[in-house]
Amino acid sequence: MKSIRAISHAIVAMFILSQSARCRGQEDFDISPMQKAEKEALYSTIQGFVGDSWNGSDLYPDPCGWTPIQGISCDLFNGFWYVSVLNIGPIHDNSLSCAQDLEFRPQLFELKHLKSLSFFNCFQLQKRFSATIPTEKWENLAGSLESLEFRSNPGLIGNIPSSFGLLKNLQSLVILENGLTGEIPSNIGNLIRLKKLVVAGNYLTGRIPDVFDGLNELLIFDLSRNSLSGSLPSTLGSLTSLLKLDVSHNHLQGDLVNEFAKLKNLTLMDLRNNKFTGGLTLSLEEMCSLAELVLSNNPLGGDIRSLKWEKLKNLAILELSNIGLTGEIPESLSELKSLRFLGLSDNNLTGNLSPKLETLPCLNALYLSGNNLTGEIGFSKEFFGKMGRRFGAWNNPNLCYQDGVISTSHVPYGVKPCQKEVNLLESNSKTELINGPYMNHTFHFIASKGFSSCATNAFSWNCMEQILVMCLLLILI
Ligand SMILES: *[C@@H]1O[C@H](CO)[C@@H](O)[C@H](O)[C@H]1NC(C)=O
Ligand SMILES: *[C@@H]1O[C@H](CO)[C@@H](O)[C@H](O)[C@H]1NC(C)=O
Ligand SMILES: *[C@@H]1O[C@H](CO)[C@@H](O)[C@H](O)[C@H]1NC(C)=O
Ligand SMILES: *[C@@H]1O[C@H](CO)[C@@H](O)[C@H](O)[C@H]1NC(C)=O
Ligand SMILES: *[C@@H]1O[C@H](CO)[C@@H](O)[C@H](O)[C@H]1NC(C)=O
Repeated sequence: MKSIRAISHAIVAMFILSQSARCRGQEDFDISPMQKAEKEALYSTIQGFVGDSWNGSDLYPDPCGWTPIQGISCDLFNGFWYVSVLNIGPIHDNSLSCAQDLEFRPQLFELKHLKSLSFFNCFQLQKRFSATIPTEKWENLAGSLESLEFRSNPGLIGNIPSSFGLLKNLQSLVILENGLTGEIPSNIGNLIRLKKLVVAGNYLTGRIPDVFDGLNELLIFDLSRNSLSGSLPSTLGSLTSLLKLDVSHNHLQGDLVNEFAKLKNLTLMDLRNNKFTGGLTLSLEEMCSLAELVLSNNPLGGDIRSLKWEKLKNLAILELSNIGLTGEIPESLSELKSLRFLGLSDNNLTGNLSPKLETLPCLNALYLSGNNLTGEIGFSKEFFGKMGRRFGAWNNPNLCYQDGVISTSHVPYGVKPCQKEVNLLESNSKTELINGPYMNHTFHFIASKGFSSCATNAFSWNCMEQILVMCLLLILI
C-alpha cells in the first residue's frame, strides 16, 4: 500500500510540475510591439467566431506578449509580432469556444503571416443557423498558409471553395467530419506542396478529379466516408511518395488501376465498402511496402491465386472478406511472415485449408467463415488455443475438425467434428449448429474485436490504465 501511495504521489507531483512548466513557458516573452491593425484584425476575427461579448482588447491587451490567448501563436517579422497560428474551438479547457451564430469576418484575411488555421468542434448543427466557408479572399493567405484544418464541424455546410486551389504553400489540407457537400474542386491539383490531403467524413459527391500528377510530395490521401462515385483516377499513380491511401466507404466503381504498381512506398491501402469490380489486378502485388491491404465488401471477383502474395512480404493486415473470391487458399499466404490478421470470410473459396497457415508466427486472427472450404482442419491444438475466438470458420458446410485432437474449450464455433462414418442425421445437426443461438453472440464478439492486432499490447495498456485509476482513487481517499 505504502509503495502505491508513493507512486501515486510521484505521479501527481510530475503532473503538477509539467503543468507549471507549461505556465512558465507562456510567461517568457519578448517586449516587441504588435501593429494596431494586426491586433484589431485578430480581435475582430476571433469575435466573429466566439461572439461579441468577448472583448479582446480588454481581456488580452498584449495577445502575442504577456496576455497570450489560448490557441493563438505569433511570430516576429521585422521586429513586429504577427499571428502565425489560429486554432478556434475547444482543444484545451480554456480554449476559445464558438458561439451559436458565428461568422467568418473579412479581417481573417488580413492576418498576412498566418501559417496555420484550424477549426475544431466549432460549427454545430442547428436548424436556425448554419455556416459556409467563404469562397473569396483566400488568395490573401496564399503566401503564408501551410496548414488549413476543419475538423468535427457538423454545422459547416456548402461546398469546398475552389479558391482553396490558390493556397499554393499549403502542405496540409484537412476537411474531416463536417457537413460539406458538392464535388472536390479540381484545382486542388494546384496544391503541389501538399503532404496531407484529408477530406473524409463529409457528404461529397461526384467523381474524384483526375488532377494529381503534380502532387508528388503527398504522403496521406484520405477521401473516405463520402458519397464519391466514378472510377479511380489514373493520376493516382503519380503520388509516388504516398504512404496511406484511403477511399473506403464511398460508391466508387470500375477496376483497380494499373498505376497502383507505381506506389512503391504505400503502406496502407483501404478500398473497402465500394463497388469496385474486375478482380485483383496484378498491380497490387507490385506495391511492395504494403503493410495493410483492405478490400472487403466490394464485388471485385476473381481467383485468389491470381496474385503472387509472397511478394507483399510486409503485409500485416490482409482483409479480403466479401469480395467474391474463388479458388483455393494459396500456400503463398503462409510466406507472409508479418501477417497478423487474415480475413477471407464470405467469399466462394473452395478446397482444403493448408495447415501451413499455422506456421505464420504473428497471426492472431483468421476468419474464413462463409465459404465452401472442405475437409478436415489440420491445425494443432496449440494453434486453436492461441487463436481462441479469433479463429472463425463457421458456414463452411463441408469443413470439419478432428474430434479428440482439440480440447473442448477450443472447438471452433460452428464447425462440426469430422465423422468416420456417414451419418444420415448429419445434415440436420449441422444446420442447427450453424444457425444455433450462440452463433450471433460469437459473431458480435469477434466483430467487436475488429483489427485488434496485438492482444498483449492492448492488455498492458489496460493494466496501466487500471493502475493509474487506482492511484487516483487512493489519493482521493
Ligand atoms: C472593451 O474593453 C475596453 C477596455 O476596457 C473598453 O474601452 C471597450 O469599451 C470595451 N468594448 C466593448 C465592446 O465592450
Ligand atoms: C520512399 O521511401 C524511401 C525510404 O523512406 C525514401 O528514401 C524514398 O525517397 C521514398 N520514395 C519516394 C518516391 O518518395
Ligand atoms: C458464389 O457462391 C454463391 C452461392 O453459392 C453463388 O450464388 C455465386 O454465384 C458465386 N459467385 C461466384 C463468383 O462464383
Ligand atoms: C461446395 O463444394 C462442393 C464440392 O466441394 C459442391 O458440391 C457444392 O455444390 C459447393 N457448394 C456451393 C454452395 O457452392
Ligand atoms: C440471430 O440472428 C438472426 C438473423 O440476424 C435472427 O433472425 C435470430 O433471431 C438471431 N438469434 C438470436 C438468438 O439472437
